[in-house]
Amino acid sequence: MKKSDNAHRCPFAPPTSDVEASVETPRDPPQRDRRRFLRSAGLAGLGIGGLALSGRCPAQADAFSSQADASSSEVTRAPLQRNAQLAYPFHGRHQQGVTTPRQATGMLVTFDVLARNREQLDRLWRTLDARIAFLVRGGEYPTRDPRYPPHDSGILGPEIAPDGLTITVAVGDSLFDTRFGLAEARPRHLQRMTGFPNDALDATRCHGDLALQICANTLDTGYHALRDIIKHTPGLLMVRWKQEGTVPLLPPSPGDVDGSARNFLGFRDGSANPDGTDTALMEALIWVGAEHDEPAWATGGTYLAARIIRNFVERWDRTPLGEQEAIFGRRKMSGAPLSGDGAEGREQDLPDYATDPDGEITPLNAHIRLANPRTPETQNSRLLRRPFNYANGVEANGQLDMGLLFLCFQADLEAGFIAVQRRLDGEPLEEYIQPVGGGYFFVLPGAVDDNDYLGRGLMAATA
Ligand code: HEM
Repeated sequence: MKKSDNAHRCPFAPPTSDVEASVETPRDPPQRDRRRFLRSAGLAGLGIGGLALSGRCPAQADAFSSQADASSSEVTRAPLQRNAQLAYPFHGRHQQGVTTPRQATGMLVTFDVLARNREQLDRLWRTLDARIAFLVRGGEYPTRDPRYPPHDSGILGPEIAPDGLTITVAVGDSLFDTRFGLAEARPRHLQRMTGFPNDALDATRCHGDLALQICANTLDTGYHALRDIIKHTPGLLMVRWKQEGTVPLLPPSPGDVDGSARNFLGFRDGSANPDGTDTALMEALIWVGAEHDEPAWATGGTYLAARIIRNFVERWDRTPLGEQEAIFGRRKMSGAPLSGDGAEGREQDLPDYATDPDGEITPLNAHIRLANPRTPETQNSRLLRRPFNYANGVEANGQLDMGLLFLCFQADLEAGFIAVQRRLDGEPLEEYIQPVGGGYFFVLPGAVDDNDYLGRGLMAATA
């Protein structure tokens, strides 16, 4: 593994190429600022390496301590408080933002890659790697001679707090066309998303050569990161589409601390998600490994299926509660499966389909029963959902444009999202939802240390 000088540059080093030269890059954040950050976060003695080992930083553990073991859906539980100093380690076998507990805000931004050759593509990877490594750690931008553009957008002030930021880099199938000689290294299941029967796809909100999932405690932190990346990649990237969303930061009512956050149809979303802290389960279901028969460079990555799914909320709000619950197969307030103990039922209870073969309690076409029939044959189609609620404004007809930025991860796109969506085709929920955009992407394996960078393995595999 060898990197050029450029790759080892700190994210604030002066530009070295024609493309980068047009970008104003600030200097390295002074060490004392770094120490100040760690001190104020109470992390000074631990070091980021310690965080990587525990997989969870102490600040985050505090934020979630009252919820310990309350639910299996770590990834989608409602975050309880904002901790601006929460920093996720950048280096690791896997990228952050997949099994990481869902932050309060998330956006998916896709890009057309403008790089004209492999050399420029390689510079794109190295630039992304350096910017993300800085942004998720935080630091200070120096002031500048007012005759030049400021180093930073300034929307977070002079000091950038990590704010739980994760930026997850993924590639679309179009990147493997003839431009960069990557075709032979294409992940086996990566493909262009095609429409399902209920889709009304808007071409301007589909696909992309590259996708960034940017999640943080606040949308401002996400926008700041996006603008920083755009500023540093002129001539390399052009935004294609973006969709942001949120999940409630605080539980909606006192005592409601252990449940999954609710979506805009009012149901808890994430109840039956596989446990993101179960490393063995994640290796089996989510992360690509040797057993998945993928190109070697892809080990440690995962497939991302993204869908922008409009919710017809006005119609939904006029639908009887019993019908709503039958459509999902769960109780609206508690999130408990319909097959559970009535009012005593808990969100974490397992649905029981074996004693209800005709669907008298949980309809055979209920969303959860179709999505996961819980049979031995469908065990390999389990996926990890990490959705965000979106509200985009108002349609011309006066209806609210609200919905779900549905994001899910799986080691096998065909066995995961595509198989599940085929089972869901025609479900009663379709009367209230319409997918309008999205795409399939492959999340790159993580950069393991300073000698590695995101995208290095893909480039090396096709050198
Ligand atoms: C706007 C669209 C959608 C809404 C509002 C929605 C909502 C829900 C809700 C409320 C649950 C039950 C609680 C839970 O386990 O999280 C659920 C479960 C689930 N959904 Fe969706 N969902 C949507 C789209 C999708 C799509 C597109 C897929 C995949 C193709 C999907 C896959 C699943 C799976 C796998 C489960 C868990 C089933 C189980 O293991 O019991 N959902 N969804």
